[in-house]
Amino acid sequence: MTREEHIRHLIELAYDAQSRSYCPYSHFATGAALEAENGQIFQGCNIENAAYSPTNCAERTAFFKAVSEGVRGFVRIAVVGNYQGKPGDFCAPCGVCRQVMAEFCDVESFEVILARSPEEYRILRLKELLPEHFGPEDMKLAEPV
Ligand code: THU
Repeated sequence: MTREEHIRHLIELAYDAQSRSYCPYSHFATGAALEAENGQIFQGCNIENAAYSPTNCAERTAFFKAVSEGVRGFVRIAVVGNYQGKPGDFCAPCGVCRQVMAEFCDVESFEVILARSPEEYRILRLKELLPEHFGPEDMKLAEPV
Protein backbone atom coordinates (compact mmCIF):
# COMPACT_ATOMS: atom_id res chain seq x y z
CA MET A 1 0.00 0.00 0.00
CA THR A 2 1.36 3.47 -0.86
CA ARG A 3 1.27 6.29 1.71
CA GLU A 4 -1.62 7.88 -0.24
CA GLU A 5 -3.63 4.63 -0.18
CA HIS A 6 -2.90 4.23 3.51
CA ILE A 7 -4.15 7.76 4.29
CA ARG A 8 -7.22 7.24 2.13
CA HIS A 9 -8.00 4.03 4.05
CA LEU A 10 -7.70 5.89 7.38
CA ILE A 11 -10.06 8.61 6.11
CA GLU A 12 -12.59 5.98 5.01
CA LEU A 13 -12.47 4.48 8.51
CA ALA A 14 -13.12 7.98 9.93
CA TYR A 15 -16.23 8.24 7.71
CA ASP A 16 -17.31 4.77 8.84
CA ALA A 17 -17.03 5.93 12.47
CA GLN A 18 -18.94 9.10 11.61
CA SER A 19 -21.88 6.95 10.52
CA ARG A 20 -22.28 5.97 14.20
CA SER A 21 -22.22 9.57 15.50
CA TYR A 22 -24.80 10.38 18.18
CA CYS A 23 -25.48 14.08 17.63
CA PRO A 24 -29.21 14.82 18.07
CA TYR A 25 -28.45 18.31 19.49
CA SER A 26 -25.87 19.82 17.13
CA HIS A 27 -26.59 17.67 14.05
CA PHE A 28 -22.86 17.96 13.42
CA ALA A 29 -21.57 14.41 12.94
CA THR A 30 -17.88 13.71 13.37
CA GLY A 31 -15.67 10.68 12.95
CA ALA A 32 -12.04 9.85 13.62
CA ALA A 33 -9.62 7.02 12.92
CA LEU A 34 -6.51 6.93 15.11
CA GLU A 35 -3.50 4.89 14.02
CA ALA A 36 -1.24 3.52 16.73
CA GLU A 37 2.49 2.84 16.40
CA ASN A 38 1.70 -0.89 16.60
CA GLY A 39 -0.55 -0.60 13.52
CA GLN A 40 -3.86 -0.88 15.36
CA ILE A 41 -6.57 1.59 14.32
CA PHE A 42 -9.13 2.95 16.79
CA GLN A 43 -12.30 4.58 15.49
CA GLY A 44 -14.34 7.21 17.31
CA CYS A 45 -17.44 9.32 16.82
CA ASN A 46 -18.90 12.23 18.74
CA ILE A 47 -21.36 11.27 21.47
CA GLU A 48 -23.63 14.09 22.63
CA ASN A 49 -25.73 14.38 25.76
CA ALA A 50 -28.95 16.15 26.76
CA ALA A 51 -26.96 18.01 29.43
CA TYR A 52 -24.54 19.14 26.67
CA SER A 53 -21.27 19.27 28.64
CA PRO A 54 -20.80 15.47 28.89
CA THR A 55 -20.46 15.44 25.08
CA ASN A 56 -17.36 13.65 23.84
CA CYS A 57 -15.68 14.52 20.53
CA ALA A 58 -14.81 11.87 17.95
CA GLU A 59 -11.08 12.35 18.48
CA ARG A 60 -11.26 11.86 22.25
CA THR A 61 -13.51 8.83 21.85
CA ALA A 62 -10.80 7.25 19.67
CA PHE A 63 -7.99 8.19 22.08
CA PHE A 64 -9.84 7.00 25.18
CA LYS A 65 -10.73 3.71 23.51
CA ALA A 66 -7.07 3.14 22.65
CA VAL A 67 -5.61 4.17 26.02
CA SER A 68 -8.19 2.12 27.91
CA GLU A 69 -7.10 -0.88 25.83
CA GLY A 70 -3.47 -0.31 26.88
CA VAL A 71 -2.23 1.44 23.71
CA ARG A 72 -0.37 4.76 24.09
CA GLY A 73 1.89 5.40 21.09
CA PHE A 74 0.28 7.01 18.05
CA VAL A 75 1.36 8.20 14.60
CA ARG A 76 -1.63 9.89 12.98
CA ILE A 77 -5.38 10.57 13.17
CA ALA A 78 -7.90 11.25 10.40
CA VAL A 79 -10.81 13.54 11.30
CA VAL A 80 -14.04 14.23 9.39
CA GLY A 81 -17.10 16.26 10.31
CA ASN A 82 -20.04 17.96 8.72
CA TYR A 83 -23.40 19.46 9.53
CA GLN A 84 -26.62 17.54 8.74
CA GLY A 85 -24.97 15.36 6.11
CA LYS A 86 -24.17 18.36 3.92
CA PRO A 87 -20.83 18.40 2.11
CA GLY A 88 -18.43 19.60 4.75
CA ASP A 89 -15.27 21.59 5.10
CA PHE A 90 -12.12 20.52 6.91
CA CYS A 91 -13.00 19.88 10.56
CA ALA A 92 -10.14 20.85 12.86
CA PRO A 93 -9.96 19.28 16.34
CA CYS A 94 -11.18 21.42 19.22
CA GLY A 95 -8.73 22.71 21.81
CA VAL A 96 -9.58 20.04 24.36
CA CYS A 97 -8.89 17.26 21.84
CA ARG A 98 -5.58 18.88 20.85
CA GLN A 99 -4.56 18.85 24.52
CA VAL A 100 -5.50 15.15 24.83
CA MET A 101 -3.41 14.41 21.71
CA ALA A 102 -0.44 16.24 23.26
CA GLU A 103 -0.64 13.98 26.32
CA PHE A 104 -0.02 10.84 24.27
CA CYS A 105 1.73 11.98 21.07
CA ASP A 106 4.99 13.51 19.95
CA VAL A 107 3.79 16.98 18.87
CA GLU A 108 6.62 17.28 16.31
CA SER A 109 5.71 14.13 14.38
CA PHE A 110 2.04 13.29 15.09
CA GLU A 111 -0.02 13.89 11.92
CA VAL A 112 -3.56 15.28 12.03
CA ILE A 113 -5.33 14.57 8.75
CA LEU A 114 -8.30 16.86 8.11
CA ALA A 115 -10.46 15.43 5.32
CA ARG A 116 -13.50 16.63 3.43
CA SER A 117 -13.51 13.55 1.19
CA PRO A 118 -11.20 10.51 0.86
CA GLU A 119 -9.32 12.41 -1.84
CA GLU A 120 -9.31 15.93 -0.39
CA TYR A 121 -7.31 16.27 2.78
CA ARG A 122 -4.76 18.41 4.59
CA ILE A 123 -2.05 17.02 6.86
CA LEU A 124 -0.90 19.11 9.81
CA ARG A 125 1.56 18.29 12.56
CA LEU A 126 0.16 18.54 16.08
CA LYS A 127 2.78 21.21 16.84
CA GLU A 128 1.15 23.47 14.22
CA LEU A 129 -2.25 23.04 15.88
CA LEU A 130 -0.94 23.39 19.44
CA PRO A 131 2.22 25.50 19.58
CA GLU A 132 3.88 26.20 22.93
CA HIS A 133 1.83 23.43 24.49
CA PHE A 134 1.75 22.38 28.12
CA GLY A 135 2.40 18.66 28.37
CA PRO A 136 3.57 15.79 30.55
CA GLU A 137 7.20 16.93 30.22
CA ASP A 138 6.31 20.17 32.04
CA MET A 139 4.88 18.28 35.01
CA LYS A 140 8.22 16.51 35.48
CA LEU A 141 9.61 19.89 36.61
CA ALA A 142 7.20 19.97 39.53
CA GLU A 143 8.44 19.01 42.98
CA PRO A 144 7.06 15.66 44.11
CA VAL A 145 4.45 16.04 46.83
N1 THU B 1 -16.83 17.82 17.60
C1 THU B 1 -15.98 16.76 17.44
O1 THU B 1 -16.37 15.60 17.62
N2 THU B 1 -14.72 17.01 17.05
C2 THU B 1 -14.22 18.23 16.74
O2 THU B 1 -13.07 18.34 16.39
C3 THU B 1 -15.09 19.42 16.83
C4 THU B 1 -16.43 19.20 17.42
C5 THU B 1 -18.22 17.55 17.96
C6 THU B 1 -18.65 17.98 19.33
C7 THU B 1 -20.15 18.17 19.12
O3 THU B 1 -20.79 16.92 19.29
C8 THU B 1 -20.29 18.59 17.68
O4 THU B 1 -19.07 18.22 17.04
C9 THU B 1 -20.53 20.07 17.49
O5 THU B 1 -19.61 20.82 18.19
